[in-house]
Amino acid sequence: MQIITTKSELTRQVSACMRQSKTIGFVPTMGALHAGHASLVQCAVAENDVCVVSVFVNPTQFNNKEDLEKYPRNINKDAELLADFGVDFVFAPTPEEMYTQEEMQQEFSFDFAGLDLVMEGKMRPGHFNGVVQVVSRLFDLVQPTRAYFGEKDFQQLAIIHHMVERSSMAGRFGELKIVDCPIVREANGLAMSSRNERLSEQSKQTAVAISQTLFASLEWAKNASVKEVQQRVIDTINAVDGLEVEYYEIVNKDTLQPTDNWDNAVGCVTVYCGPVRLIDNIRY
Ligand code: PAF
Repeated sequence: MQIITTKSELTRQVSACMRQSKTIGFVPTMGALHAGHASLVQCAVAENDVCVVSVFVNPTQFNNKEDLEKYPRNINKDAELLADFGVDFVFAPTPEEMYTQEEMQQEFSFDFAGLDLVMEGKMRPGHFNGVVQVVSRLFDLVQPTRAYFGEKDFQQLAIIHHMVERSSMAGRFGELKIVDCPIVREANGLAMSSRNERLSEQSKQTAVAISQTLFASLEWAKNASVKEVQQRVIDTINAVDGLEVEYYEIVNKDTLQPTDNWDNAVGCVTVYCGPVRLIDNIRY
């Protein structure tokens, strides 16, 4: 496995793969890898000739400086895990390698057709502009055949699909296919996240109530309206000492707009467990 830190070296390696008509599987990450990432990487290794993983904590998608500073980073541990999975290239650039000073300061903007006006987009203004800025730049560099994303970040995945559809119409990214991968959970149901590293053992136990409530809501949904279930989920999680719901929205899976019926409904939640912001979702 080769660790690459410059765009020029990455481009050189990608061009060599393309000359040999090799398929490239790509997993973009911000590091602090866990079993959720491992499942994406395993698919990418199995389904492609070459696997590239990026490890880059993207500053332009953080609207909270403290969150960016506290984001867990451990490239050596990440590289060990990736080598074990048979990854060919890890791309781990510095922010200066990825962006000019101007790009770091100016907000990139993209038309999300309203997908960014709800939930994470509403709570973290500019977040998805930063995500699309870095992901589209990485796609241009890696030129993947397939790119793998986890369903835990449900809204992010919808936005990436939208961006790729729009860009493909304009002839960008070739035949790129986005592969949606299911949420990976701890044995107790807690959705795997790099942010879980910031939870104490006690908080991890507390946070289990998030997924437990979402699973219970599948039963509630059999005999209740969307509004009733939404309120019950919020009340149940808020009743747990140490948890505070930021939002729980039940939305249509394609439009991400709040829905009042159960067809294609997805419940997306963000909860503060102490200072740590956790997200999860469930399909009804
Ligand atoms: O989901 C993430 O870890 C990030 O948003 C991504 C897609 C790697 C872009 O920085």
